[in-house]
Amino acid sequence: MHFSLAHLSDVHLGPLPAAWTFRHFRLKRLIGGANWARKRHNLHNLDIAAAAVASIHAAEPDHIAFTGDLLNISAWEEFPRGREWMEKFGSPLDLSFVPGNHDAYVDVPYEDGLAQFAPWMMADGVKDEALQFPYVRLRRNVALIGLCTALPQALHKAGGTLGEHQLRNLPHVLKSLQDQGFYRVVMIHHPPLPGLASPRKALTDAEALQNILKDKGCELVLHGHNHRTMENWFETRSGPAVAIGVASASGAPQGRHESAGWNLFRIRRQHGRWQATIARHHWDAASGRFIGTKPALLSPP
Ligand SMILES: [Fe+2]
Ligand SMILES: [Fe+2]
Repeated sequence: MHFSLAHLSDVHLGPLPAAWTFRHFRLKRLIGGANWARKRHNLHNLDIAAAAVASIHAAEPDHIAFTGDLLNISAWEEFPRGREWMEKFGSPLDLSFVPGNHDAYVDVPYEDGLAQFAPWMMADGVKDEALQFPYVRLRRNVALIGLCTALPQALHKAGGTLGEHQLRNLPHVLKSLQDQGFYRVVMIHHPPLPGLASPRKALTDAEALQNILKDKGCELVLHGHNHRTMENWFETRSGPAVAIGVASASGAPQGRHESAGWNLFRIRRQHGRWQATIARHHWDAASGRFIGTKPALLSPP
């Protein structure tokens, strides 16, 4: 029996609240808002995001992994609306989230900001506590490991940082999950390896993360941020691993990015080895729906 896992990212839920220019003003947010008005609202389409949700629900996955950028400029008004959207999308048990740079675009007090999405980021068995990363959620023989790279950034920057605490704890988490026989899925917003994003948009500690992944191993890394399909294999001590990037779940065909997409993985243990397939789903503007490819075996090129 396989475990099915849907992956989506970068919903960039619009439209922006009308009051974004006035409440809790920040220069970065103002510029972000102007950018959104100028181009981003053409790139991200709420109806396509709704169709992605419907298409994922129709596939009835065992679990959903959402790798961040639900919001746009972290306006205070965006958080409650984002939470409402998440509540309709999936229960905290069946949907795991990690934040992206647009969910922590400027400094917002924790309670008004990321805490709104805490139920989807809580480790198993944890309730009403401050969020801890990496978090671990176990579903059958699959372990979801959530990392946070979202930090308020300087103007015009869209980078991310894991920081010392997560880099210190991640190796133990990966090792212990391997010892227990779990298929390890690492969820991270930014592309996890050096060179996969431009310096302005990159993960600052990608090299440290790469070293940990190579040394302790993992089976699959899921990320977003670049708004395009990506597949990067790398060797680890426990065998080949792959980082899969997905297009934005709301990407409009006229945008400069790929049109919207989400992926469906099927993972199973067979003859003592892990086997995973991927079916990529892409928005087809002509028919107004998502079309999935046939499941293909995930294997190194
Ligand atoms: Fe994004
Ligand atoms: Fe991003």
